[in-house]
Amino acid sequence: MKKEVLKLKDIEKVYHMGEGIEVRALRGVNLTINESDFITILGPSGSGKSTLLHILGLLDSPTSGKRYIDGKDTSGFSPDEEARIRGNKIGFIFQTFNLIPSLTALENVMLPLMLCQQHCKDRRGKAKELLERVGLGERLDHRPSQLSGGQRQRVAIARALVNEPEVILADEPTGNLDSKTGHDVLDVLEELHNEGTTIVIITHDEYIAKVTDKMVRLMDGKIVDGKNHKVLV
Ligand SMILES: Nc1ncnc2c1ncn2[C@@H]1O[C@H](COP(=O)(O)OP(=O)(O)O)[C@@H](O)[C@H]1O
Ligand SMILES: [Mg+2]
Repeated sequence: MKKEVLKLKDIEKVYHMGEGIEVRALRGVNLTINESDFITILGPSGSGKSTLLHILGLLDSPTSGKRYIDGKDTSGFSPDEEARIRGNKIGFIFQTFNLIPSLTALENVMLPLMLCQQHCKDRRGKAKELLERVGLGERLDHRPSQLSGGQRQRVAIARALVNEPEVILADEPTGNLDSKTGHDVLDVLEELHNEGTTIVIITHDEYIAKVTDKMVRLMDGKIVDGKNHKVLV
């Protein structure tokens, strides 16, 4: 049996908008992510994908339901504990890259190491190695505005890897990229999967589901097809 890395049980998320208006973004989600899974969560815009990713990644709390990380119920975790798990265990990749414009590629990748207690010895060497690995060894001193979209996303991937996370959570990682560049980014994620990293990609792009081993469909805040099957197309 593979280890259950992340597990959601009957997760609901309600956003309160004031004046009694509520948005039920997640309505009873059950989902298990196992060690070394390569999985797509597929759903249209507004279906609750980002909300789900934020809850999986301990960036937000559910309104109700249980969340487990490595089998441990997270409801008793303090904010510090949550931050530590996020920092050590999870790497995030976002559609809009979220790089710091005034920093070079190298500095952006080094940034998470400023706060860490481990792997801190050779921050620069480590960041350089990761940028080389995603094919940006010649772009270390470029700022985000001097890079293409695909290159920016590869910097973001290198940054997500710098703390050696067990799990990568990617929210529409190819959403702002043309299809060729998007495929290059997917190739990098596939390579990481082949090395054993657990990867969850959230997207509205059916193509991505063909690349990963498993997929689940999210619709109106519910998983409508949770069989974890390989998509047959
Ligand atoms: N911070 C928020 N406050 C209020 N409503 C939100 C918030 N974030 C998302 N929503 C709403 O929750 C639903 C799901 O949003 P989201 O998780 O961003 O979906 P997706 O990523 O699939 O487009 C949408 O109806 C959206 O408008
Ligand atoms: Mg979203």
